[in-house]
Amino acid sequence: MTQNWIEVGLLEDIPYLGSRVVKTSGTDIAIFKTGTGAIFALEDKCPHKGGPLSQGIVHGKSVSCPLHNWNISLESGEALGADSGCSHIIATQIKGDKIFLEIPDLAKTTDKATGTDG
Ligand code: FES
Repeated sequence: MTQNWIEVGLLEDIPYLGSRVVKTSGTDIAIFKTGTGAIFALEDKCPHKGGPLSQGIVHGKSVSCPLHNWNISLESGEALGADSGCSHIIATQIKGDKIFLEIPDLAKTTDKATGTDG
């Protein structure tokens, strides 16, 4: 399966400590910006019971799931602390002020980034 780098928006489109969602034919992808401006992307699906991580609270390099408060690493997608499980991470690339995601062929984007503020 080949990979495609797809432009999904501008850095300024995502608030600090916030997120945006990119819809694909395969799954929704949550793009997060930390308090220091680092960008990460995960499948928008908590490893516990599928909660929408894009609606969680970003702190440090992790996000707290809005459903049952598991903390998920934005770097590895893994549940932190006593919890176990992993959300799929999506590679990101920044070129200038644009954000690109490495999306598999089978999951074409259907939308630009949308979502809620931090
Ligand atoms: S669904 Fe995310 S913590 Fe339960």
